Amino acid sequence: MKKKTFFITTPIYYVNDVPHIGHAYTTIAADVAARYRRLAGDDVFFLTGTDEHGQKVQQAAGQSGREPQAHVDDLHVRFKELWIRFNISNNDFIRTTEERHKKVVREILQKLYDEGEIYKDSYEGWYCMPDERFWTEKDLVDGNCPECGRKVEKITESNYFFKMGQHRDWLVDHINQNENFIQPKSRRNEILGFLKQPLDDLCISRPKERLPWGIPLPFDDEYVTYVWFDALINYISTFGTLDKIRSCGFWPAAHHLIGKDILTTHSVYWATMLKAIGLDLPENIFAHGWWTVNGQKMSKSLGNVVEPNHLIEQFGVDVIRYFLLREVPFGLDGDFSHKALIGRINSDLANNLGNLLNRTLNMLKKYFKGELPKIGTKGDEDAPLIAKSAEVIQEVDQLYGELAYSKILAKIWEFLDAGNIYINDTAPWNLAKSDDGKKRLATVLYNSAEACRVIAILIAPFMPQTADKMMEQLGIDTPVDKQGLDSLKKWGWIQPGTQTHQGAQIFPRIEDKAAAKILEEVAVGGEAPASEKNVETNGKGQITIDDFMKVDLRTAKIIAAEKVKKSKKLIKLKVDLGTEQRQVLAGIAEAYEPEQLVGRTVILVANLKPAKLMGLESQGMILAGSDGDAIILGGFDGDLPPGVRVK
Ligand code: MSP
Repeated sequence: MKKKTFFITTPIYYVNDVPHIGHAYTTIAADVAARYRRLAGDDVFFLTGTDEHGQKVQQAAGQSGREPQAHVDDLHVRFKELWIRFNISNNDFIRTTEERHKKVVREILQKLYDEGEIYKDSYEGWYCMPDERFWTEKDLVDGNCPECGRKVEKITESNYFFKMGQHRDWLVDHINQNENFIQPKSRRNEILGFLKQPLDDLCISRPKERLPWGIPLPFDDEYVTYVWFDALINYISTFGTLDKIRSCGFWPAAHHLIGKDILTTHSVYWATMLKAIGLDLPENIFAHGWWTVNGQKMSKSLGNVVEPNHLIEQFGVDVIRYFLLREVPFGLDGDFSHKALIGRINSDLANNLGNLLNRTLNMLKKYFKGELPKIGTKGDEDAPLIAKSAEVIQEVDQLYGELAYSKILAKIWEFLDAGNIYINDTAPWNLAKSDDGKKRLATVLYNSAEACRVIAILIAPFMPQTADKMMEQLGIDTPVDKQGLDSLKKWGWIQPGTQTHQGAQIFPRIEDKAAAKILEEVAVGGEAPASEKNVETNGKGQITIDDFMKVDLRTAKIIAAEKVKKSKKLIKLKVDLGTEQRQVLAGIAEAYEPEQLVGRTVILVANLKPAKLMGLESQGMILAGSDGDAIILGGFDGDLPPGVRVK
C-alpha cells in the first residue's frame, strides 16, 4: 500500500532575532506532529529555516561591519544549533539566501509577470521601516504603524504589484467552505472580518537603491523582491521547481504552523499567491498564541527574553518540550513562569510518570529478579486498564488532527493515572505474600510494564529522549519508531522473559530548597546572572560547569567610545553584539584612550543586570585584567565576529 504523505512547516525565522521560546514553541509543536505521523507510518516532510533578506538584516550587517551574506551565514547557525539541541527532526532547513530558493522565487515572479498577474505602478503610501510594510492612510493608528505603533514615513515610488485584490471573493468562499483552512476558529473569523474590506493589490518590490539586500526581480533588476513575497515561497522552494512540487506528493502542506501575528501574510498573501501560481492551498494554517513572561511581553529592552539554551541546561530538553505544549492550549496566549514549570516537573513528570515506571520496575526487581513474568491469573481490574489504553490511543489520534497538544498530553496522563490506580487497587505488595497471589502478581506486573510501554510510545513525539530511556529500563531493544503505533493495536506487545533494568529516576523531583533558589534567581526580569551568593560551591570553592554557563559571555565589537564627563575612570562604549547594540561603561579611562578602543573585539558579560553609573546605564560588563595600575582588556588571538558565545 502507498504510504500517506504529511508535510508540515514552521515559519522561517528572521535570522537577526535571537532564538527564544516563542520560536522554539512553533518548532517543537511541528516536530511533535511530524514525529507522531512517522510513528503512524506516514512519509513525513518537516520543513523549517531562516528568513534572511530585507532591511533589518542589511542594517544589522552594516552595523557589524560585514557584508549581509557573511552576517547571515554566521547568524542562521544559532537556529540550526538550537534545533539540534531540542532534538528537532526537520527534514530540511531552508535559507532564503540559498540559490535553490532564489531560483524558485525568480521562476514564480517571471511566470506571474508573463501572465499579467504583476504590473508596475507609481505608489504613494506610508511605510513602516522596521516592519518593512506599506500602509494606507486609513490603516494608520494615531498616525503610526497599526502593527508596531512606530512612526511611518510617506514614500512615493514606482513599484511592482501583485494583483491580489481580485482574489478576495473566492478566498472568502474557500475559507467558508473549508473549516480547517484557518484554525483556531477565532482567528478564522478575524480573517473573514478583514476580508469584508476591499483587498488591495500587494506591493512586491523594493527599489534597489533604497534596499539592495533581496532577490532581484527577473524582469527588472532595478528592484528586489519584497521580503514576504520571497519568504513565503520557502514552503515550496524546498522541492526544487514548480514541476517537482506538483509531482513530489507532499504538496499541499497539511499544516503551516505560525504565530497569530503572521496570519494575514499566510492566509491572504500566501493563499492568493498560490492560487495565481496554480497550486492547491494548504489544508490548514494554524495560528498559535504568544508567550509572555511573568505577564510581560518578551523583549530585549525589558531583558526578560527567555533563552532556550539556558532552560535546556537548567531543566533538560524533554522537560521544556513537555511544558511548552502542556501548559497552554495551542492557539491561546500563554505565560511562561519558572514556578509553573517547576510545578509541572514535580507533579506531572516526577510524581506521575516517574512514579509509575519506577514502582513497576522496582516490584519486578523485588518479586521476579527484574524478569517480566508471563500473564498468570486474570482479575477484574485488568479489563478497565486495557480499555482505557484503547480509548486514549484512539482519542489521541483524533486530537492530533486538531493539533490539540495540551489535550493530547492530558489524555495520555489520564492513562498514566489509570496505571497508578491499577497498581493501588491490585496492591501487588499483598499479592506477593501467597503462592496464589503470586500468579495474580505476575499479571499485574506484566500489565503495568505494558502500560509503561504504551505510555512511552505515546509520549515519544513530545519527549523522545524520555521514551528511549523508558524503553531501555523496560529492557526493550526495538526502537520506538520500529514499534510504531501499530504495536499499540493489541494489548500485550511486550514479551514475557524481557529483562528489565531499573535505572536512575527519569524525572527527579525539584525539592523545595532548589526550587526556591531557581525562583530567586529569576525573580527580577527573567534570566538572572549567576551572582556569587547564588552559586553553590563544593567546599573547595569550585563551581560546576552549569554554574559557569549561567554567565553569558559574548564577543562584542566596540563601535564608539568616549570619556564620561566628570569621571576619571569611566569610558562610555557602544558595542555591537551582532544582533543588537549596547551601551557599556568601563572603568578603563586611565589605561586606554577612546580612539584606541574603537574597532576592538572584547568579551562582554551579556546577561549582567543593567546598572547605573554616574547616571548612565551600563548594559553589561567587559572583561579586563589588572596588575596594579595596569589594566589590560581581554581579547582574542584571531578575529571573531560579534555575538559569538565565549566559553
Ligand atoms: N520571518 C517571518 C516569518 C516568515 S514565514 C514565511 C517572521 N519571523 S519571526 O522570527 O519574527 O517570527 C517567527 C515566529 O515566531 C512567528 O510565528 C511569531 O509569531 C513567533 N513568535 C515570536 N515571538 C513569539 C512569542 N513571544 N510567543 C510565541 N511565538 C512568537 O515573522
